[in-house]
Amino acid sequence: MSDPAAPGSVPRERLSVSDLLSIQDLTPEDIQLIFKVARRIKKAPDDFALSLKGKTLAMIFEKPSLRTRVTFDVGMTSMGGQALFLDHSDAKLGERESIRDVARNLERWVHGIVARTYKNRSVVELAEQARIPVINGLTDLLHPCQALADYFTLAERLPLGSGVRLCFVGDGNNTCHSLILGAARLGIHLSVASPAGYEPNSEIVRQAMDTAAATGGTITIMRNPREAVREANAVYTDVWASMGQEAETEDRAAVFAGYQVNRQLMELAGSEALFMHCLPAHRGYEVAPQVIDSPQSVVYDQAENRLHVQKALLLLLMAGEAV
Ligand code: CP
Ligand code: NVA
Repeated sequence: MSDPAAPGSVPRERLSVSDLLSIQDLTPEDIQLIFKVARRIKKAPDDFALSLKGKTLAMIFEKPSLRTRVTFDVGMTSMGGQALFLDHSDAKLGERESIRDVARNLERWVHGIVARTYKNRSVVELAEQARIPVINGLTDLLHPCQALADYFTLAERLPLGSGVRLCFVGDGNNTCHSLILGAARLGIHLSVASPAGYEPNSEIVRQAMDTAAATGGTITIMRNPREAVREANAVYTDVWASMGQEAETEDRAAVFAGYQVNRQLMELAGSEALFMHCLPAHRGYEVAPQVIDSPQSVVYDQAENRLHVQKALLLLLMAGEAV
């Protein structure tokens, strides 16, 4: 930090990347730096009240959001900057004009972009074309900001990378993919239990297994949730039908019926096991109310930490990028 007591503090260190597209692009040192800055921001937010003074973040959203939209907006304003919401729920990014032209315009006016799109390729192309930082705010494939906040939340309770066991039960979706990539980077043991046909993307699993071999982590893909949760420090689940899959809700409810995280399943995990969910949650489907609303649940801490971790990201990517 330049001066930890000054309201315009900015970290001296920088990330090895200029965008946040996937956790796969971050080194373990990058993740530790994000966590270090996030801890400082969480502890003394007023020290950062002017750190992004004069900076504007454009927020392109093709899909709905509560947490991501509010935390990026509040994150910017609480550091002296501002956020602009660009509603793309009707015209997807690249439909009204090319992604290249969107990028080449926005970079003349704002200092960073967060984008939530259906196609992962849209965020990647935006980053390729824009000479300002681009943050992936969720795509059909990935949700890196979520996984960073989740591992930060775990790290507040357990020393990471020392035999921590996380279990993800349910759809091998965007949240699951980013958790897999994060576990590999951080040396965590992650087991994923999904029904046939809903396993995580095999290429992401392969990349993560390669990475995990060097960090001491393990990625295990399983079918049986009762086996997967054994000795887990934390059990994580997410919706069975993600945004864009609403038409499959009923069919998926039948396929995933045996994958609900309920008391019986939690009892098979460690007695102190935490329950995690990125939210929004559907009580009675992927999680029983007795679990998500129990003292074991850290879901609101995860949501709070989205703010602190993303403020750290914004600071590390955007401070000093004034045009
Ligand atoms: N967890 C999460 O990203 O929530 P939103 O969809 O509300 O942003
Ligand atoms: N998998 C969910 C995550 C929501 C934050 C979805 O994409 O809808």
